[in-house]
Amino acid sequence: MPGRHQGTATSTACANIAFIKYWGNCNPDSRIPANGSISMNLDGLFTRTTVTFDPDLMADQLILNDKPSSGPALARVVAFLESVRNLAGIQVFAKVESQNNFPMGAGIASSASAFAALSLAASRAAGLALSERQLSQLARTGSGSACRSVPGGFVEWKVDACDTNSAAESLAPAGHWDLVDCVAIISTAHKPTGSTQGHALAYSSPLQISRVNDAPRRLEICRTAILEKDFEALAEIMELDSNIMHAVIMTSRPPILYWLPATLAVMQAVTAWRKHGLPACYTIDAGPNVHVITPAQSAEQVAQQLRQIPGVSDLLLAHPGGPARYLEI
Ligand code: DP6
Repeated sequence: MPGRHQGTATSTACANIAFIKYWGNCNPDSRIPANGSISMNLDGLFTRTTVTFDPDLMADQLILNDKPSSGPALARVVAFLESVRNLAGIQVFAKVESQNNFPMGAGIASSASAFAALSLAASRAAGLALSERQLSQLARTGSGSACRSVPGGFVEWKVDACDTNSAAESLAPAGHWDLVDCVAIISTAHKPTGSTQGHALAYSSPLQISRVNDAPRRLEICRTAILEKDFEALAEIMELDSNIMHAVIMTSRPPILYWLPATLAVMQAVTAWRKHGLPACYTIDAGPNVHVITPAQSAEQVAQQLRQIPGVSDLLLAHPGGPARYLEI
């Protein structure tokens, strides 16, 4: 009986860093992106989520990092649970308990790992058995970048003419290439404009159309660089893509500037190091912190040099991570 469904499941998913960024939607309601994107899952930086559908509950509940959550965070989860209930044909409220093992506001998008983990746990607890592709599609509707945290390793979110079935798939497993993301933390303050708001402004920039039109070329270069483990090609296209996204962001109406002085200091240092033979490149999401990507053999040196830059308050290191998975507990 749909009104008495009971079920629980736990899952975990890594955060991810985009090498080619998602910025702007064709259809914001179902998060169909304006362009495809490519990312690497971040091992060790994860969300773990338990969902319990319970006929005795009077409303959905969200416990985030051990604290009851309300407001926009709860509303987003309730809307997501509603679509899972519709898919499963049940009408029971759920308790969602979610924990991130990385600090909130550390420049790691928690919505990606959160909605990827929630897709697995909520769908299984609701009695559904979805394929990886269906899970990625479901995660996308919660947060676009979350669809890339469902498959493992190096992942591409493909878009085909505003295809409503858009989902992400693995390009190569985590063990393919041992890159390290050294996240230079510059500020953990809450960002004034979140990515959902930022996506909505993308097309107010005169540069967004050129950015989107050129995306297939950048995706192709990035995909090939990953498959061939060509760090120099990857570095060039990754920095170009990040700079183009920030050019759009800075020229939106109203304009947004996510960078702080230390953001620029890290960018300049990283390009100078590369010129002098140290393989490292930067990419920056919707915030001031800088993700510095480097092959594992150089990670220690890169981390040590990043720590010397005034304004870098902390550093997180992550190797390529695997797919989202269920935990049997
Ligand atoms: C700059 O996936 O966080 O990190 O779909 O509104 O949740 P919503 O946005 P989100 O946007 C990510 C933007 C980005 C680039 C990227 O990860 O591709």
